[in-house]
Amino acid sequence: MKITVFGTHEYDRASLGAANVGGLHMLNFVTQGLNFSTAPLARGSGAVCIFVNDRLDAALLEAVHAGGTRLVALRSTGYDNVDLNAAQKLGMTVLRVPAYSPHAVAEHAIALILALNRKIHLAHARVQRQNFTLEGLVGFDLFGKTVGVIGTGRIGLVVAKILGQGFGCTVLASDPVPCATCVAMGVRYVELAQLLAASDIVTLHCPLNANTRHLINGAALDLIKPGAMLVNTSRGAVLDTQAAIDALSSGKLGALGLDVYEGEAGLFFQDLSKQVIADETLKRLLASPNVIITGHQGFLTQEALRDIAQTTIKNFTDFERGDLCAETRVSHS
Ligand code: NAI
Repeated sequence: MKITVFGTHEYDRASLGAANVGGLHMLNFVTQGLNFSTAPLARGSGAVCIFVNDRLDAALLEAVHAGGTRLVALRSTGYDNVDLNAAQKLGMTVLRVPAYSPHAVAEHAIALILALNRKIHLAHARVQRQNFTLEGLVGFDLFGKTVGVIGTGRIGLVVAKILGQGFGCTVLASDPVPCATCVAMGVRYVELAQLLAASDIVTLHCPLNANTRHLINGAALDLIKPGAMLVNTSRGAVLDTQAAIDALSSGKLGALGLDVYEGEAGLFFQDLSKQVIADETLKRLLASPNVIITGHQGFLTQEALRDIAQTTIKNFTDFERGDLCAETRVSHS
């Protein structure tokens, strides 16, 4: 089957190429994301393979369907960017990578927590200018602090384990489906309001859906413990960014770590260093010393890339054989 793989970078081409043993599938790598202007590149491809910021709404699905595409293969776990209802109406199959190294994202969340707390970004910039003073760099011990984990699925579980068993934090959690392993580890499930009020650090690991869009909004941030740190490595729109900026400005929120941003489409994964960015919200965040932003790189470890590539190639093969794995297939419910 010919597959047009959109939004590819060198690391995607290397991992997918290695996983496509014997050149089983004809992979047509393109660097651009999938949108109306690039959709013609998929003409004649049985499948399109996309990433998190390719928004496949009904009209774009119809466009690729008209070109002969019947499979949308996501190289991601989240699938909030595809209109599943429209895909179903068109008879298109949508497959994802249901699980890959959860350690990749979990460890990145921990990296953001540690960097924000110990002000590594500020210290690095200072030392680079031969300024070895320490004023303004005071952090706190993670040991004994309370951390709230929102969403204790594959990634949240690893975060809870690292923080609870590794750092000696008290871990609170909020999830409509509590995880037995977390409970056995001593994680205490509480209402969201209680988690926000009691946690020194809140970290988001739930999917983006109708229930979680702006889950952390102004009202939620009003409840947060004064000076708390908030980290989002899930999906940008789980957090109301403007409300977070307001909470940072008032001092209610002490620090913010983002690997995802609700306006990231069209910005992240690109080198815009020679341009003036028009997004004033992002610029405001970038100018804040108590904010660290990474460009959606939580997944970017060798192990996660290998897992994503192997599952994606298997998804192509399973689709061709008509032998689909229930966990991989996403459909409108
Ligand atoms: P998962 O499906 O294993 O776990 C998600 C958990 O969130 C489930 O336990 C679910 O019950 C819970 N949840 C659902 N609604 C909730 C709510 N309203 N409040 C609290 N919890 C809720 O997913 P996994 O693999 O742990 O990934 C989580 C999310 O992380 C993905 O959906 C994706 O958006 C994001 N992600 C980010 C990456 C990055 O590079 N930054 C890479 C991979 C995933």
